Amino acid sequence: MSEEKILVTAALPYANGPIHLGHLSGAYLPADIYVRYKRLKGSDIVFICGSDEHGVPITISADKEGIKPKQIIDRFHKINKEAFEKFGMSFDNYSRTSLPIHHDTGKEFFLEFYNRGILKEKKSLQFYDEKAKMFLPDRYVEGTCPNCGFEEARSDECENCGALYQPTELKNPKSKITGQAPVLKETSHWYFPLGSYQRRLEKYIIDMDEKYGWKENVLQYCRGWFRDGLEDRAVTRDLDWGIKVPIDSAEGKVLYVWFEAVLGYISSTKEWAKDKGDENLWKKYWQDVETKYVAFIGKDNVVFHCIVFPAMLMAWNDGDKDKYVLPQNVPANEFLNFEGKKFSKSRNWGIDVIDFLKLFPADPLRYTLAANLPESRDTDFYWKEFQLRNNSELADILGNFINRTLTFVQKHFDGKVPERKKIETIDKEMLDLISIYPEKVSKLFESYKIKDGVLEAMNLARAGNKYFNDSEPWKTIKTDKEKCGTTLGICLQAIYTLAGLMMPVIPFSAEKIFAMLNSEKTSWDELGGENLKPGHQLNTPEIIFPKIEDEIIEKQMEKLVRSDDLKKEEPELISINDFSRVQLRVAEIISAERLEKSQKLLKLKVKLEDEERQVIAGIAKSYNPENLVNKKVVMVANLKPAKLMGLESQGMILAVENEKGELNVLSVDSSVKNGTRVK
Ligand code: 2FM
Ligand code: ZN
Repeated sequence: MSEEKILVTAALPYANGPIHLGHLSGAYLPADIYVRYKRLKGSDIVFICGSDEHGVPITISADKEGIKPKQIIDRFHKINKEAFEKFGMSFDNYSRTSLPIHHDTGKEFFLEFYNRGILKEKKSLQFYDEKAKMFLPDRYVEGTCPNCGFEEARSDECENCGALYQPTELKNPKSKITGQAPVLKETSHWYFPLGSYQRRLEKYIIDMDEKYGWKENVLQYCRGWFRDGLEDRAVTRDLDWGIKVPIDSAEGKVLYVWFEAVLGYISSTKEWAKDKGDENLWKKYWQDVETKYVAFIGKDNVVFHCIVFPAMLMAWNDGDKDKYVLPQNVPANEFLNFEGKKFSKSRNWGIDVIDFLKLFPADPLRYTLAANLPESRDTDFYWKEFQLRNNSELADILGNFINRTLTFVQKHFDGKVPERKKIETIDKEMLDLISIYPEKVSKLFESYKIKDGVLEAMNLARAGNKYFNDSEPWKTIKTDKEKCGTTLGICLQAIYTLAGLMMPVIPFSAEKIFAMLNSEKTSWDELGGENLKPGHQLNTPEIIFPKIEDEIIEKQMEKLVRSDDLKKEEPELISINDFSRVQLRVAEIISAERLEKSQKLLKLKVKLEDEERQVIAGIAKSYNPENLVNKKVVMVANLKPAKLMGLESQGMILAVENEKGELNVLSVDSSVKNGTRVK
C-alpha cells in the first residue's frame, strides 16, 4: 500500500475567550491522538488549526470591555496558542483569520461565486440603530417576545419560551448599543443557494458513510437538516469587523463569519506552505483526489462542516479552476460537561486549559479526557475521576509495571536487557498478546474510536502486571536465573510496545519511557516485535506518574462549591422598573439600644425626612450602640413591616459583611438630608 496522504483540520476556536476542557474533548484531543498515531504509521500528514477572529461574538466581547476587536483577538490568540502547546497539540500550523493570506482566500471564494452568478442578491428589512449609525446584528437587538411576553427576548429567538420568529415580529425592540429603538431599514445581502445543493449533499454523505463509515451522531444531525430542507443562506453581513466584501456596491459589509472561517483551514495550510518555503505545497493536500481529508469538530459545528463547507467546495469545483477535496470524514464529538453541568464562563463553572496546566501536567489530563471522550453521548469531567485515572491507572497500572520491571532489571541484570532463553507456555502467550496489540488499537483509532483505543492500550499494561505476578521473578531469580531473564525480557518488550501505543495519548510520558529504555522513538508497525536486543543497556528508571494527593483534589472541589454558591447568589437580571420599586432612603440613627435576649439584634430609632421609624437590625456583634447614634445610613424604606423578637421592624438597614463576618453599615456623610432617595 502506498503511503497515505492525510489532511487533518481541527475547528478554529473563536479568539474571544480561553479554551476550556470541553473544547479539548470535543475536537482537539481526538484530532491530536489521531494525527500522532498516523505519523507513527508513517503517513504524509498535515495538521491544521488557528484562531477564528471575526464574527459578532468578538465585537460583543470588545464592546463589553470598551476596547477594539483587535485587542481581544490578540489577547486570546496568544493565550489559546500557548494553552494548546502546553497541552501537547501537535499542529503543523496555528494561523489566524485576521491575516491577509486569509482575507485574500475569503475574497477569492466570494468573487468566484459572485462572478459565476452563483450568489443571489436579495433585499430585506434589518434593524438599524440611527444613533450608532449601524445595522444591528441579531445579537445586538432585544425586545419583548411576541409569543410569551418575555421582556429580554433575543431578536429572533426567545430564551424563555423557545419561540423562533422573524426579527420584525419582536415587540419593543431595543438596540443593545445605545438602548434606543432601532428602525427597520432596507439592506441587501448576497445569498448562497444552499437548497440547490441538497440532493448532491445527501448523496455525498451517503457515499462517504458507505465508504468510510461516518459516526451515527453526525449522520443524525445531517438527516435532520435535510428533513427540514436547506435554504438560501446570506454570506454577507452589515458590520465593520471582518473581511470586506470585495465589490463596490458592498460598502460597510463583510463576509459572514462562517462563510470565511471554514476557508481558514485552506489559508492556514497556505501559510504553512509558505513557511516551508514552497508556496504551492498546500495544493498537494487540498487539491489532490488522493488526499484523505478528516475534519475534527464538536457537535455544534456539524452543519457548517458537513453541509455548508462541502456545498461551497462543490460550487467551486463546478467551475474551471483547480478542484478541492471534500471532507472524507467528520468525526464530530458530543459535549463534555463539568461535574454534571455545562461549562459556563459567566457562572464560573469549569476550568480553562491554561489554568489547569498550571496545576497539573498535560498527560494525566490527556489520558483522563481520552478515556472518557464524548464520542457518542455527552460525558462529564469529574475531579475525582481525574485523580482516580491518574493514581489507579497511570500510576498503579502503567507506571507500576514499568517501574517494577526496570528496577528489577537494574538490580539483577545490571540494567541490561536479559536474554530470553526459556520460553514456556506462559511466556509464549504473553508474546502473542503483545504482538496483536498494535493491530487491535490501530483498528480502533482508524475508525475514530479513540476512547476505546486508549482503554485497550491500557489493557496491555494490566496484562503485563499479571504476567509479572504469575511469573514470580523475585523467586526465579534465586532458583532459575535464565527463566527470570526471559520474564524480564518479555516485560521490557511489553513496555516498549506500550510506550509506542501510548505515544499519541500521553506523548510527554511516552518520550520519558523511551528515554529510560535508552531507545529512539519507534514506528507503529515495528511495535509488538522484539524491539530491544539482549544486552542493550537501559537507563536509570524514574517515577513517571506521581500520585495526586487527596488534598490537592479537595482544594479544587472546594473552589467548585464556592463557585456554585456564587451562582446561587447571582441575582436574576431585573429591569430598571423592578429596581425602582425598591425605595432606598437615607436615615439618621437617633437612638440605638441592645435587646436583652439577643446577642445579634439592636433596636434602632431612625429619622427619615419627617417621620421616625423603629428598625430591628442584626448588627449587635459589630457595633457598640453608642457609636451608631447620629450616623446617616441607607435603609430600605418600603419593606413590609416584620416582627423580630416580638418587636416591629419598619425597614432594613443596608450593610456589607467582610470575610470575618463583621458587618459594616452603609453610610453617607452628615451633609446629606434625611429621607434623601438613593438612586
Ligand atoms: O465554534 C467555534 O468556535 C467556531 N469558531 C468554529 C469554527 S470552525 C471553522 F469553521 F473554522
Ligand atoms: Zn417567549
